[in-house]
Amino acid sequence: MQKIDSLEEYLDMYSGQYTEEALNFIVNNFDYNTSVDIIAQIRSKLDLFRPEKDPFQGFINYLRSKGLLKGKILEIGSGYYPILAERMADEQGIEVTGIDPKLVETEIPKLKLIKGSFPEDVRIKDFDVVVAMMPCEITIPVINAAIEERKPFSIMLCQCAPSIELKYAAPYSIDFWVDKVILEAYKNLEPNANISIDRLPHIYGRSNEIITKTYSK
Ligand SMILES: C[S@@+](CC[C@H](N)C(=O)[O-])C[C@H]1O[C@@H](n2cnc3c(N)ncnc32)[C@H](O)[C@@H]1O
Repeated sequence: MQKIDSLEEYLDMYSGQYTEEALNFIVNNFDYNTSVDIIAQIRSKLDLFRPEKDPFQGFINYLRSKGLLKGKILEIGSGYYPILAERMADEQGIEVTGIDPKLVETEIPKLKLIKGSFPEDVRIKDFDVVVAMMPCEITIPVINAAIEERKPFSIMLCQCAPSIELKYAAPYSIDFWVDKVILEAYKNLEPNANISIDRLPHIYGRSNEIITKTYSK
């Protein structure tokens, strides 16, 4: 029932913006635990967002402001189409890898793509920066792995993870979960490290918390 409700909510949000074929793909692949906003990914790919409203570009602008568009970047949980990774790879002098078991497209020039899962199919220690946009239930494992390897990271939180955890540990609210994730991010904080909690401007339509850890030299 919860699955049908959230599928209906998603389809209502974009009513009239998909073809019959796209509708079939969404309905057949809809997984409410880790639902990907595939329409937003494709709209961004086709430049159908006004540039100042594209949430992926908004996140990239944010990462740039934090000095995180550098070296080898790993994006975990790229979704069906790795638009964030592809747009990041447009930046000069960086190398981007995207990983997700749901990747449909696996060969895009300028990008390395892994159709697989963290942590089994990738090693954080091989990268300079870890990025994830709404990675659902792997949010805390990704943060813990980045802390262990002393890598800077930036994770935009989603609202799915608390509902997944709800099944196991009530009472959980989104606020409670966000606080829990922030506490995790502060674990073993080094003297030269800094945590910031930010949000994209409302215009991007993704105003969830972003937890970012950076290091000063
Ligand atoms: C809410 S979607 C976000 C997709 C994309 N980042 C976006 O913002 O449009 C969460 C994604 O995390 C992926 N994911 C879940 N567990 C994963 C794992 N262990 N390794 C890699 N990706 C994972 C899911 O397949 C899903 O595509």
